[in-house]
Amino acid sequence: MHFLSTADRAREDLDRLIGSALEFKNGLNQSKPLAGKSVALVFFNPSLRTRASMQVGIYELGGNAVVLEPGGTSWTLEHREGAIMDSDKTEHVAEFVRVLGRYCVAIGVRTFAALKDWEAERLDPILNAFARYSDVPIINLESAMHHPCQAMADMMTIREKLGEGRKKVLLTWAWHPKPLPMAVPNSFALAAAQMGHELVIAHPEGYELDGELMAAISQHAKTDGGGKVEITHDVEGAFDGVEAVYAKSWGSKNFYGALDQDVAARSPHRAEWIVDEPKMARTNSAIFMHCLPVRRNVIVTDGVIDSPASVVIDEAENRLHVQKAIMRELIH
Ligand code: CP
Repeated sequence: MHFLSTADRAREDLDRLIGSALEFKNGLNQSKPLAGKSVALVFFNPSLRTRASMQVGIYELGGNAVVLEPGGTSWTLEHREGAIMDSDKTEHVAEFVRVLGRYCVAIGVRTFAALKDWEAERLDPILNAFARYSDVPIINLESAMHHPCQAMADMMTIREKLGEGRKKVLLTWAWHPKPLPMAVPNSFALAAAQMGHELVIAHPEGYELDGELMAAISQHAKTDGGGKVEITHDVEGAFDGVEAVYAKSWGSKNFYGALDQDVAARSPHRAEWIVDEPKMARTNSAIFMHCLPVRRNVIVTDGVIDSPASVVIDEAENRLHVQKAIMRELIH
């Protein structure tokens, strides 16, 4: 079975993975399920946390990481079915993943949105091509639409810092000079709903998340966790009484393929849409969360990210533990 999105897993599976990650973190699980085995890590895009935590995690589980960068340390890759490959792509995903599957017991892949064509990219075509052709588990290390390993580390961090049970959590858009992909906010909101948290999503008008995903989030909130979801454009009121603040910038789906229009549309929001001390003072002593990398004094002030409320480094550490739990579950 692949690990492409938390939507593929039931609430109890997510709880079990977090429990397993806590065992790794607390030194209660020293097992080496990857002894004598290799895992491929395929990066179409840059990374610090994902790459380092996956390489270290595979090592700590007794295995070997094979890191590949298509177009750099491996051939350029075509993913479209039926493509006539007479242009710049050298190898098809169909061969790439099946060859890797002869050497490796799982394949992790990072493939960001290009922010060019919303209708195509919202379907995660490259990730899904990997999943379609692969005989070994595919682990999503951030695709156009999902970053489930990040979301699992986020849910683990909320549980560690705030305890078990329903919390009031805010996902807030923040101004950034460039439009960014939506995978992190999508997966955070989805996982928070699955875990039963009371979720507030704040963003300026025009920066709505995908409609189909929002419908799934609302459904998960009702059926999985019994939480609720509120959407607001009130950048200050959104902070009232929340226990966790998750900041992230993302691009508008209305401007895929026209990023200069997004830059112009977001420019009036620069002064207001930043996480600062006055906004944090409205919360219920909230923790501050961000997936990193973060632009200081753009997304969040130094005063907030350097305060005791900030848990961003623990959140990054938890990537290691939760990914070990995911690999232990997937790889036999
Ligand atoms: N949060 C995260 O995925 O970080 P990297 O992009 O550095 O891997």
